[in-house]
Order: sequence, then structure tokens, then C-alpha cells
Amino acid sequence: MAHIIGSVSTSHVPAIGGAIARNLQQEPYWKPFFDGYPAAREWVQGARPDVVVIIHNDHGLNFFLDKMPTFSVGTAAVYDTADEGWGIPALAPAPGNPELAWHMVESLVADEFDITTCQEAQIDHAVSLPLALLWPEHQARGEWPVEIVPVCINTVQAPYPSAARCWRLGQSIGRAVESWDSDKRVLIIGSGGLSHQLDGERAGFLNKEFDLKFMDSLVHDPEWVTQYSNDELVELTGTQGIELLMWVAARGALDGAASVTKKHSNYHIPISNTATGLLVLEAA
Ligand code: DHB
Ligand code: FE
Repeated sequence: MAHIIGSVSTSHVPAIGGAIARNLQQEPYWKPFFDGYPAAREWVQGARPDVVVIIHNDHGLNFFLDKMPTFSVGTAAVYDTADEGWGIPALAPAPGNPELAWHMVESLVADEFDITTCQEAQIDHAVSLPLALLWPEHQARGEWPVEIVPVCINTVQAPYPSAARCWRLGQSIGRAVESWDSDKRVLIIGSGGLSHQLDGERAGFLNKEFDLKFMDSLVHDPEWVTQYSNDELVELTGTQGIELLMWVAARGALDGAASVTKKHSNYHIPISNTATGLLVLEAA
């Protein structure tokens, strides 16, 4: 059966794409952010993933306000990257893994998650930037060393699924991957958050204390955050801070592992309007 090697959860901010394109990684503004990633890359290289299940939110590229699935899974053979309006360069298309994707669709629906199946989809900065941060040499060559299965959670238009439900979605993803008849090694990526609010009266709102408590909880007490309703999470982390749901689902996918060990973390505020976090967990 396929093996889940662990998870990497990371913030995504479109400006990261601009910084990579302009080689600004060593600039004082960017350095504390980019310096978080070499240790994550080292762990990923050693863990040798073949396939990545990347749990992300779409930002108006695939789904708009007229049609908004709560959960979706991409079953495409290839995903073009696109920019939904930030002016950042599109990166290389990412190969999919339709075999795992269809197995996940079957397994998730059997598990009573009524997901939308996307046989065609584009990927925005929430998928392309974590790939670029983990595999910069490949990105520079215009290729990726892994296949992806994108899982999208709606955090754009209310109502959003609760943290408790995203935790259970993650558990179901974990069961799906672990019942896939394959010798592939699977990495889970959670792409979103942490605290940020892009507009409105509280634009620029960040909550370092909550973010650090949340990151810490994912190591030893991962269901801690499920005590909060989404209204409470928005109050605590800002309107877009709700993207932390990706981290909850990614951690849920490791719940079936005998042990989960923290390998690396980084936290830096702000990048653009966002509190950026990075957490690497090894599953055994
Ligand atoms: C920013 C953060 C996001 O998560 C996003 O999707 C877009 C913009 C920002 O901080 O600029
Ligand atoms: Fe976002």
C-alpha cells in the first residue's frame, strides 16, 4: 500500500512568486521568510516523495461565486498554472496522478464526503508556490519532480466547512491514500494562512500568539483547533486566516500514523499582509 511520509504546511502569498522571479530571496525583507525553506527541502529530499496530495484553497481561478464546491479533488493528468490577477509569472504545468485521484474520489465519497470531481483544473499561487518553495531548482528548469493531486477546500465564499469537518476530511484523505494499492511515497502539503486579513476595517490584522499556539497544537494536540467555530476563527485570525483549515486537513491526513514528529518550523511576520508559517511533520 502507499505510504504517507509526512506533511509540509506552508503559507502562500502571491508576492512570493514575484520575489522568486526577481531573485529577491536574500533581500532583508524576504530573507527571514525564504531562510525557513532549506531545512524543509532537506527533509523532503530525504523522504523521497513520488506524489503530493496538496490541500489548498482556490482564489477565484477555478471556482467563482456562482459555483462554489465545499470540497473538490482534481483527477486531471496535468494542471496548468495561472495567475488569477496578481501579476506573477505562471510556472510550469504540474503533472497529476489520476490513479490516486480517482481512488481518493471513490474512497472519500464512500466515506460520505460529497466532493466535486475536477477532470480539468488550473492551479493558482496556492499550489504553484509551495511547489516552487520546495523544489526551486526544478522550478527554474520548468519542471516538477512529483505528481500532484489537488484537494480544494472552499474558504472564499461562506459558508465554509468547520475545522472539525476539515479534520475529518483529512482523516478520510489519509485512509484513502493508505488504501491505495501502490508502492508510492505520498507527501501531504497544506497550503494557506496563517493569520491575515486583506481588506475591510481590520485589513492587516495578524495574531502571532494564536498562530504559534495553533502551530504548536498540530504537533501534540491536533484537534485543539476544532473547538472553534469558523466565526471564532475569523475573529481570531482575520477573514483570510480561515485558510488555516488547510493545515487542519493536512494534519488530519497523518492521524492514522503510529507517530508524528516535528522536523522543522518557521514563523515570520509579515510577508505582504500575511503571517507566514511553515511546519514539517514526519509520519512513521
Ligand atoms: C495575500 C495572502 C493570501 O493568502 C492570498 O491568497 C493573497 C494575498 C497577501 O498577504 O498579500
Ligand atoms: Fe490565500
